[in-house]
Amino acid sequence: MLNKIDEIIHEIESFNSTIAEEIDQFRIKLMSKKGAITQLFGEFKSVPVEQKKEFGQRLNELKNKAADKLAQLSESIASKDKEYSGLDLSLPGDPIQLGSRHPVSIIKNEIVDIFARLGFSIAEGPEIEDDWHNFTALNFPEEHPARDMQDTFFIEKKPDVLLRTHTSSVQVREMKNSQPPIRKIFPGRVFRNEAISARAHCIFHQVEGLYIDENVSFADLKQTLLYFAQEMFDAETQIRLRPSFFPFTEPSAEVDVSCMLCGGKGCNVCKYTGWLEILGCGMVDPNVLENCGIDSEKYTGFAFGMGIERIAMLKYGVKDLRLYFENDVRFLKQFSAAY
Ligand code: DAH
Repeated sequence: MLNKIDEIIHEIESFNSTIAEEIDQFRIKLMSKKGAITQLFGEFKSVPVEQKKEFGQRLNELKNKAADKLAQLSESIASKDKEYSGLDLSLPGDPIQLGSRHPVSIIKNEIVDIFARLGFSIAEGPEIEDDWHNFTALNFPEEHPARDMQDTFFIEKKPDVLLRTHTSSVQVREMKNSQPPIRKIFPGRVFRNEAISARAHCIFHQVEGLYIDENVSFADLKQTLLYFAQEMFDAETQIRLRPSFFPFTEPSAEVDVSCMLCGGKGCNVCKYTGWLEILGCGMVDPNVLENCGIDSEKYTGFAFGMGIERIAMLKYGVKDLRLYFENDVRFLKQFSAAY
């Protein structure tokens, strides 16, 4: 009988399973009414008195071993269940958020596309410029107060190296490098030493346009800008030109579009004038043509420059320029692009 106990102990020690049914079978085999251990307890009566003590001790030892083993097995199953609880493999996955084009890029692409239909192609220039391309060639005389129109970030002084304050510097490069006819637009980032507010930023984007050929007239400029305004806003949009001053154009004008929100009747966006300013323009000053190696007797041309954020603000009804630079996806994902 003691052999039998050893046999069962050996069986208990070598048993292992992580399957609940198997463990239950094992429990039944040992501990149920007809189980091996229960039977041994039944046989206890017939053990000779002098062996009862040892047999009883071994039998208790066996019973405890079996109980410990079963407790240990069922605990390991429970912790395994816990690991998987809450994991529902049939749930749909987290959707992957699609990125979207930045509104400034959308408007830039739209501007480029409109002028492409008129035969304008794109060129780009460096963001770090020298004084000559940003100012001098554009007819800003040295020490002239017109340079204060644009607060400049200087990288080095004498000779001046700076962050370009406008994309007009690219028209200089283009005229230096090629001869008319030139029909190009220059989109890009520009920098000004301005306090950041809802209406101004130290970094923003412009698109500059340049058309130089024989007999280019102010009427060509007007018609080009009217076409642009009607394509960008809507077919009813009107433009008006107000005389202005830029060192690099003569005559110069600022261009307003009729307010697309009130149709020109007057509202709080156009400050009850019916008009919204969108760009500056003019006929390229003969001095600029000559500075860039173009014969001003033979050729004339027009130029214009606009802020991309400004157009985007009008088009989307965004009132705070800073939103374009904060990278808040809740703002950015509202713009969907055909461009
Ligand atoms: N460069 C000007 C600015 O940044 C914009 C501008 C005005 C560009 C008139 C032009 C122009 O080409 O003719 O404010």
